[in-house]
Amino acid sequence: MVKRVISTEITEEDVKIESNLRPQLLEDYIGQAKAKANLKIYIEAAKARKEPLDHVLFYGPPGLGKTTLAGIIANEMGVNIKITSGPAIEKPGEIAAVLNNLKEGDVLFVDEIHRLNRQVEEVLYPAMEDFAIDVMIGKGASARSIRLDLPKFTLVGATTRAGLLTAPLRDRFGVVHRLEFYTPQELQTIILRSAKVLGVTIEEEGAMELARRSRGTPRLANRLLKRVRDFAQVKYNGIITKEVAVFALDLLEVDKLGLDNSDRLILTTMIQKFQGGPVGLDTLAAAIGEDAGTLEDVYEPYLIMNGFLKRTPRGRQVTDTAYKHLGLAGRIL
Ligand code: ADE
Repeated sequence: MVKRVISTEITEEDVKIESNLRPQLLEDYIGQAKAKANLKIYIEAAKARKEPLDHVLFYGPPGLGKTTLAGIIANEMGVNIKITSGPAIEKPGEIAAVLNNLKEGDVLFVDEIHRLNRQVEEVLYPAMEDFAIDVMIGKGASARSIRLDLPKFTLVGATTRAGLLTAPLRDRFGVVHRLEFYTPQELQTIILRSAKVLGVTIEEEGAMELARRSRGTPRLANRLLKRVRDFAQVKYNGIITKEVAVFALDLLEVDKLGLDNSDRLILTTMIQKFQGGPVGLDTLAAAIGEDAGTLEDVYEPYLIMNGFLKRTPRGRQVTDTAYKHLGLAGRIL
């Protein structure tokens, strides 16, 4: 028998606690077992010592839960979170003001931390290490620097490109975690949980179909869930069965393994214009009209993990798996 998760199972309490799809507590967070287990210990230890948590860096492809984990850290520590991003802070004075406004123990979340400029980054070094900033007063010969104490805080940095972080910044994080793609089973659990929060009725097999096609990424799983819900509502009786999921996802052009139009464009361009490679990253990016960084950080990791693409010393190369998946003839040797 197919088990259904019925929308009426949601209690008022559920709705109150879950104002959106993001889990608020570590125990509700699904997947990333290693990061979760380690964070649990570090949080418990820091709380027992009545100290803020050490600075944490999360890296990995987008949509895997970096912001969610930062929110959970703040919640579990019982402190506030201030959210900003690398490109949003342009001047040293801006980061100094943000730091100065934190309360003791607060979490400062900096997304895309690899995009901080050099001068801003230099304010962060003493702030992270000694909880202090050096401020220049006066000009010319009478200029001098004074040290301002800051509240003790936790910096949570997130980046899709750990390789672009400077060594002095990277070295100041006490905890560093790479976030991994989620398994279909983990995504299925996330989708069932999200469906409950959204008040959508979904069958386990429908959730699994969505999970398999979500590129290992909860953000995408939740986005697809909302779209498939629309199809279920308008074209069917509101219940997301496997049939509804297959119908909707085919229309959305997300294939059986979760590849979308952009993924397929990358692979077919490599095959049709570059004989399957090897082709340099910049050349490939230009051929598909995409930024090289985006190609490398957003699209490639999933294609590599699934064995569609390889990085070789001479450039990117498609694999036989990609030819097969696209229904194209293999390389002519
Ligand atoms: N929603 C988005 N990501 C999630 C996760 N990792 N666990 C539970 N719910 C989620």
